[in-house]
Amino acid sequence: MAFLGIDLGTSGLRALLVDDAGRALGSVERHYSVANPHPGWSEQDPAEWIAALDSAVAQMRDTLPAFADLRGIGVAGHMHGATLLDAEGRVLRPCILWNDTRSQAQAARLDAVEGVRALSGNIVFPGFTAPKLDWVRENEPGIFAQVAKVLLPAAYLNFYLTGAYVADMSDSAGTSWLDVGRRDWSNDLLAQGHMRRDQMPDLVEGSEAAGLLRADLGAAWGVKGPVTVAGGAGDNAAAACGIGALDEGQGFVSLGTSGVLLSARDGYRPAPETAVHTFCHAVPGRWYQMGVMLSATDSLNWLARITGQRPADLTADLGETLQAPGTVRFLPYLSGERTPHNDAGIRGSFTGLATGTTRQDMTRAVLEGVSFAMRDSLEALRQTGARMESLFAIGGGTASRYWVRLMATVLDLPLHLPAGGEFGAALGAARLGMAATTGAKAEEIMTPPDIAETVQPETTLRADFDTAYQRFRAAYPAIRAIQ
Ligand code: XUL
Repeated sequence: MAFLGIDLGTSGLRALLVDDAGRALGSVERHYSVANPHPGWSEQDPAEWIAALDSAVAQMRDTLPAFADLRGIGVAGHMHGATLLDAEGRVLRPCILWNDTRSQAQAARLDAVEGVRALSGNIVFPGFTAPKLDWVRENEPGIFAQVAKVLLPAAYLNFYLTGAYVADMSDSAGTSWLDVGRRDWSNDLLAQGHMRRDQMPDLVEGSEAAGLLRADLGAAWGVKGPVTVAGGAGDNAAAACGIGALDEGQGFVSLGTSGVLLSARDGYRPAPETAVHTFCHAVPGRWYQMGVMLSATDSLNWLARITGQRPADLTADLGETLQAPGTVRFLPYLSGERTPHNDAGIRGSFTGLATGTTRQDMTRAVLEGVSFAMRDSLEALRQTGARMESLFAIGGGTASRYWVRLMATVLDLPLHLPAGGEFGAALGAARLGMAATTGAKAEEIMTPPDIAETVQPETTLRADFDTAYQRFRAAYPAIRAIQ
């Protein structure tokens, strides 16, 4: 038996095939772009996701003989995106993504309604789905009137794969339409957002079956028998499944396009006032919390773009030895910020520039700024009572040893680097596909990876970075006041 995990990311799609012991058999990636047609807008054409999936699967079919034994699929997707479908299942407009900030006013209005935070367990952030639909209602009424279904990106792939409208709890928790404690759509929240239950997909747990692979796709893919498609997950819950973070105290820091500090919890512990996110896990009866900063590797990629360098070359220039905090400061708010500020309007800044400032100084400032913003998330999570004594470090940014050392020191936590191989959202998605197909218990298959190395905080620099972090915190209100 083989299982397919699909990680529908912001910058590309990754497909991973595993055997029935969860070992990787092969993976394929495809890339696509994000459109920013206006400042603060962030959109993607769902047809690009399908093209990426079709072509990734075709390559797997042609190169991996085990693909013919496919039995189960799980999809992980970037969260909160609004894919709007008409009554025939046709896409009505480009998907409005998680880091789109156009619906600030709608989010603030919904967030102020009494009872909304209590039911959804979260602040209504502009990146979440409900305010996006309210923006469409106000600004594109012709489209709004045709909306028969709203699907998150992973649920849209579920629809493509099965023909059924089915979403999982972990992703649906980021809509502001779900009663996150009861794991069901909330009629009250839907009504506040001018939406109806019939416009929502059916709900299943991420590790339950959402349906079977369409017969025509199965034939085109050359698979022999029926293939179960799992409910799937939002990408962060899927990454938690990949890293084995199911219980209190287990978690990760992820340096991807966004920066995430996630901790599994021993129950539903909403704390919207801290601006952490409290979401259903992808397996039944579990929840997790995370702090989210919107521009992690996105900040480094931006610096790379404007300096005409590759991100890896910028970080390689710093060497591997951690230096004391620099005098150049970077606030990484290129797309606004969620945890802890809930401020979609704030933008980034460099301060402390001098005639002698070098490109290396600026790279260092970017890595430090993102690390300090992750410390903001750690402090917010700690306010909820989450206990974290060490974390896994995952995501593209961890390819820089300098950044991992810096992050361990700023967070003052040992960071485990997983041993080579698979451990991310694609593996988590494949594990969900396996659980949905075989009925295996989450605890049995969602185990932590081997640790290649644990990076300890640099004790001699901890006090300096603490002082620099306090300055970083103080900079937000000052910069806010002049923007
Ligand atoms: C989580 C969030 C991001 C995306 C990135 O709330 O918006 O982490 O899921 O893909």
